[in-house]
Amino acid sequence: MKVIEAADYEDLSRQTAEIVIAQLRAKPSSLLVFPTGRTPLGLFKALVDAERAGRVDFSAAVFLTLDEYASIAADDRRRLLLWLKLELLGPLRIPDSAVHAFDPLAEPHAEADRIEALIAERGGIDLAIVGLGPNGHIGMNEPGSAFDSRTRRVDLTPATIRSNAAYWGTEADVPRAGLTLGLGTLGEAGKLVLITGGAEKAGILAKALNDPISEDLPATALRLHSNGIVVADRAAMGQATRLPN
Ligand code: PGA
Repeated sequence: MKVIEAADYEDLSRQTAEIVIAQLRAKPSSLLVFPTGRTPLGLFKALVDAERAGRVDFSAAVFLTLDEYASIAADDRRRLLLWLKLELLGPLRIPDSAVHAFDPLAEPHAEADRIEALIAERGGIDLAIVGLGPNGHIGMNEPGSAFDSRTRRVDLTPATIRSNAAYWGTEADVPRAGLTLGLGTLGEAGKLVLITGGAEKAGILAKALNDPISEDLPATALRLHSNGIVVADRAAMGQATRLPN
């Protein structure tokens, strides 16, 4: 695993955008996975700016959502796909035909099988970018998720429900379950990139980088990935000891 320390949030966003741009230059038809949440917003803006400047071409790329709330309507305002469309896919003018997303109302086992089959048909995920949850989750792989877990329905932990309430209003507004790519699924991606920024993530990032690799801390799975990259700004790196690249 490689650790890239960015000077600040803007630099974190720019350096992560360069990883995406390099990926698309190497393979224009890449299967890409992006997270939602606050952290990737600067990355999305950097990618839209790069596309407008003609530095990157998304026309052959295929997108797959990392996770989604379960049991909500397709047009529910909390749908993570809508967040991604608003912040990234819309501004990039990506057609729906190039976007694969979880159906929140589908039968979860069949839906998970459909997504896994789709990944296999395309020869695997080329690049997956994930955020870091306050409890160390990646996607909706909460603490205790097996490192070989596949795409599936999961119950959200109280910590995630609390932190996600910031997006939607109150804890009562946060759905209790979700659908997520599994840690094993993400582990097979050609490149797995974790992005995190801000002093509030420093404690959990230090654990992710330094604590024993354990399913109790899903983000430690990055350290098992031969092409795992952590991009963190200086504020988040505060308490972390840099491991050798
Ligand atoms: P954030 O969310 O980017 O809004 O901090 C990360 C997460 O909870 O996975």
